[in-house]
Amino acid sequence: MTPTRLEITRPDDWHLHLRDGDALASVIGHTARRFARAIVMPNLKPPVTTVAQAEDYRRRIVACLPAGSRFQPLMTLYLTEDTPADEIARAKNSDSVFAVKYYPAGATTNSQSGVRELARVYRVLEAMERHELPLLLHGEVTDPDIDIFDRERVFIERCLMPLRERFPALRMVLEHITTRDAVDFVSAAPANVAATITAHHLLLNRNALFEGGIRPHNFCAPILKRETHRAALLQAATSADPHFFLGTDSAPHPREAKEAACGCAGLYTAHAALEFYAEAFEQTGRLDRLEAFASFHGPDFYRLPRNEGRIVLERTPWAVPDEYPLAGSACKPMRAGEPVAWSIVEAAAS
Ligand code: DOR
Ligand code: ZN
Repeated sequence: MTPTRLEITRPDDWHLHLRDGDALASVIGHTARRFARAIVMPNLKPPVTTVAQAEDYRRRIVACLPAGSRFQPLMTLYLTEDTPADEIARAKNSDSVFAVKYYPAGATTNSQSGVRELARVYRVLEAMERHELPLLLHGEVTDPDIDIFDRERVFIERCLMPLRERFPALRMVLEHITTRDAVDFVSAAPANVAATITAHHLLLNRNALFEGGIRPHNFCAPILKRETHRAALLQAATSADPHFFLGTDSAPHPREAKEAACGCAGLYTAHAALEFYAEAFEQTGRLDRLEAFASFHGPDFYRLPRNEGRIVLERTPWAVPDEYPLAGSACKPMRAGEPVAWSIVEAAAS
């Protein structure tokens, strides 16, 4: 029988887009209510490429937090072909930067400054391997001749396997995995390789893109995959394997930027992130393993302490609003206008 109350160690979000300025102020409260820490993506315009920029961005985030919140943003650098290897030592010595993000140029929102040829960043990767600074991978190839649904599998073959050979000690997180291929690769890898899994890839398959018509709010990168892949992700997330941990990839866009002839990629899930994961774990009857996935495996990989605070969920449904304010516009959240099965009843400051 499904429990109706669940108390766990306060979780962290190991992959999050917070944006900047008014948009940041609009969304930060949702994450800060649920999570103690989050790995904050650097794909701003312009991207966050230096420790100094990451520290400024960190200050802007902290300045937006609701009164009394002790939420901690963990910053990342955006890897470009011009990133100097010295920046890695600076990052390692800072107390604000925890990882470096690899975007293949053209793969997703604000990825134009990303990497076109991996060999051009080998010197930086060597420094990261030496300094034990994790590399966070957007794991998709962007070659126009590769089918969009195969981008992740081909990335594993063409980029990830050679990277593992060249830099065997490099700490890597394959972000927002979407395929059985990624699950198989990561579960067979040693402990310096891990993966994050989003709530939307656990709950939706690619049919959600075309339910009665085209659904731009379900478009994200990597794109949703077929049901067999969703099942593999669910199995991995609920398996108690420490390679896998929570990363929402919550990515707010103004409604008009998604409901467009060329709509942006990204689902907004921060408003109900932990609740969505609880639904997914409940589907497999493994709510008892949510805490390890959400609150233990991430800090263990990043070599940070586990949180001390607790959070309580109750099986009381609530209706997601049709939209949330986003800067001067609005953002349509996942499950807009529909119920979510779990609610947060108690979220002590941690
Ligand atoms: O769907 C996505 N949206 N995937 C990404 O990798 C980036 C993100 C965004 O920043 O909007
Ligand atoms: Zn992302």
